[in-house]
Amino acid sequence: MSLKGKTAVVTGGGSGIGRAISLQLARDGAAVAVWDLNPEGAAETVALIEAAGGTALACPGDAASAAGIARSAALTRETLGPITILVNNAGITGFTPFLEISEDHWDRMMAINLKGPFLCCQQVIPDMLAAGWGRIVNISSSSAQTGANVMAHYSASKGGVVTLTKSLALEFATKGITVNNIPPGFVDTPMLRASPVDVEAEAASVKSPMHRPGRPEDIAAACSFLVSEAAGYITGHTLGVNGGRVMP
Ligand SMILES: NC(=O)c1ccc[n+]([C@@H]2O[C@H](COP(=O)([O-])OP(=O)(O)OC[C@H]3O[C@@H](n4cnc5c(N)ncnc54)[C@H](O)[C@@H]3O)[C@@H](O)[C@H]2O)c1
Repeated sequence: MSLKGKTAVVTGGGSGIGRAISLQLARDGAAVAVWDLNPEGAAETVALIEAAGGTALACPGDAASAAGIARSAALTRETLGPITILVNNAGITGFTPFLEISEDHWDRMMAINLKGPFLCCQQVIPDMLAAGWGRIVNISSSSAQTGANVMAHYSASKGGVVTLTKSLALEFATKGITVNNIPPGFVDTPMLRASPVDVEAEAASVKSPMHRPGRPEDIAAACSFLVSEAAGYITGHTLGVNGGRVMP
């Protein structure tokens, strides 16, 4: 129970990777606030955590809006205490040929995938500074490492997440706060299943050395390590959890 007494926020914790991370951090002993646009998804994750004996709070809201984030942060602090672990996981994807990406679509991608983590970090880092301890994990994407066909808006937003990670790691390195990112590539979640990717064919192809998609729990295990005491000397790092699909 290495995270006992700590409060964690997981954005997009109502589905897929965010749900698995929320469940893992709760198993590690943290009280977990599940921030998600989808109230039912957030409530389901909280119910799963509570059924397993953990402590959790659902905060329905937009993790890309300053007002929504401020409301969720206030409710989290009031109910669970100061926030010293933040996992910026909420995100949307998109598959559109570059010349057809509208300005609105570009702006929405940047707002949720990149501005959201910026706003969430600004909201919770003061708690971490006050505690002299903090852990931030940003869920980026392997598309930030390789580029991705018909995903220029998505991969550009995730590239921004990687450089945001490195810059914050530098700025807060002396303050007991580590900032790292995990770039998933091919993880079996509702987002992947809703995409044009043929999951079974992709898993069987040479692109997937392990011949299987990632599981949300694979990402959660790495996140659990990065927020632990044991990872205290790791910051600004990109921890690939991809079954060998990307070896930079
Ligand atoms: N699944 C993959 O293969 C894959 C690959 C690369 C990166 N990722 C990244 O992993 C993260 C999680 O993806 P997933 O596959 O679990 O997706 P998912 O669609 O299953 O879950 C995403 C969750 O984020 C929530 N969300 C979306 N916008 C939000 C907002 N503005 N505010 C609050 N919540 C919001 C959704 O309601 C949903 O519960 C995303 O950032 C995604 O880009 C996933």
